[in-house]
Amino acid sequence: MPNLLDTLQANRVVPLIQANKPETALKISEALIEGGLDVLEVVLRTEAAMDCLEAIAKSFPHAHVGAGTVLSAEQSKQVIERGASFIVSPGLDAMSVDVAQNANIPILPGISTATELQQAWNMGIKTVKLFPASLVGGPKMAQALSSVFQDVRFMPTGGVNPANLNEYLSVPAVLACGGSWLTPVDRIEAGDYAAITALAKDAKKIAQNK
Ligand code: 3PG
Repeated sequence: MPNLLDTLQANRVVPLIQANKPETALKISEALIEGGLDVLEVVLRTEAAMDCLEAIAKSFPHAHVGAGTVLSAEQSKQVIERGASFIVSPGLDAMSVDVAQNANIPILPGISTATELQQAWNMGIKTVKLFPASLVGGPKMAQALSSVFQDVRFMPTGGVNPANLNEYLSVPAVLACGGSWLTPVDRIEAGDYAAITALAKDAKKIAQNK
């Protein structure tokens, strides 16, 4: 399997998966993979999130299945045990970074200032989540930070959508964008998984036209 960074560079978008039961999470994953996306982030925002993560990681061994909204070292350990191949967190937590690095699992901590990015950089992190991207300056913020932190790649998340995706992906330092726009709750509740495949395909089209 190609490494995470190469796959992120190919996909350029990372869908968030939030589900109340593994069956639903598997259907969402299937729809996204059919749409050409094989980096999936399962967010720890439901009681079933850990079970969803494990089910997806087992069912789709050729995808990169990671955990998002990871808030602590304890949660970092748990998601690794459940099969996460990468970790995303909303902020920068040194103990979570430590757990991931000791396990050799990529971690993308959230940063929203130069100070946080400098702290992450000094922990050896070269790929970060810019969060919440649209509120902290959007593509211009990624561009500005990258002029100083020249070896850092960004995954802006928070407020990314099909209307601004192109602008984010036009910033050379932006590796990929994350977001929930690819997995709308109303489509999931309606069982309209074809809509999710269509959103994934649309996002890939925007990315490929770059
Ligand atoms: C996250 O979990 O990273 C953000 O909540 C995603 O933000 P979005 O819902 O605006 O995509």
